[in-house]
Amino acid sequence: MNDAVIRKGRLEDLGPALSVWRAAETARRGGQPIGAVTERRVRGYTRRPGAFLFVADCGGEIVGMSLATPATSRPRELCVVQMVFVLPERWGGGIGGRLLDATLAEARSRGYGRAQLWTHAADPRAAALYAGRGFVSSGHPESGELGEPIVRYERPLQGP
Ligand SMILES: CC(C)(COP(=O)(O)OP(=O)(O)OC[C@H]1O[C@@H](n2cnc3c(N)ncnc32)[C@H](O)[C@@H]1OP(=O)(O)O)[C@@H](O)C(=O)NCCC(=O)NCCS
Repeated sequence: MNDAVIRKGRLEDLGPALSVWRAAETARRGGQPIGAVTERRVRGYTRRPGAFLFVADCGGEIVGMSLATPATSRPRELCVVQMVFVLPERWGGGIGGRLLDATLAEARSRGYGRAQLWTHAADPRAAALYAGRGFVSSGHPESGELGEPIVRYERPLQGP
């Protein structure tokens, strides 16, 4: 089932996109609800200058989202893919891959030289998604916001 259209997100898509994130993240955590600190962090990404959103739109229903921002340390050179989330009932249908492709193409057209992201070390679907699109893992799990192991992935964007 791959009838969703990937398009740039508009201001009015932000609420539904964050609902997708909440549903996907809650499912990923086995039903554990999202805390206020995480909610604040994610809302902060959406307000950063240069942030850009893509959504997967299925006849008006937002079923997936991705959000990228310039890196605070190297804002001209490095694009950080902060979030890629798909409604749990749509996992494995190719939407995450298409959202990531659109996000990387946009980052490239904005002139970024590299893309980076952090993801949970133990998630095989996320690992397949990123490794399949040229990202290389740092290989060293670090501790995330909630103490869970996370790994950094990075890839160049320009060149052949
Ligand atoms: C990670 C996530 C965004 C992927 O979205 P998706 O629509 O399920 O992704 P796709 O269907 O495009 O599949 C992504 C890759 O995982 C692989 N995959 C699919 N099902 C899998 C499974 N059960 N186990 C391992 N890999 C799997 C696919 O083959 C695909 O790789 P490919 O593009 O090289 O073929 C989605 O599962 C999600 O929202 N997960 C919870 C949140 C999360 O972990 N987000 C990433 C961190 S920010």
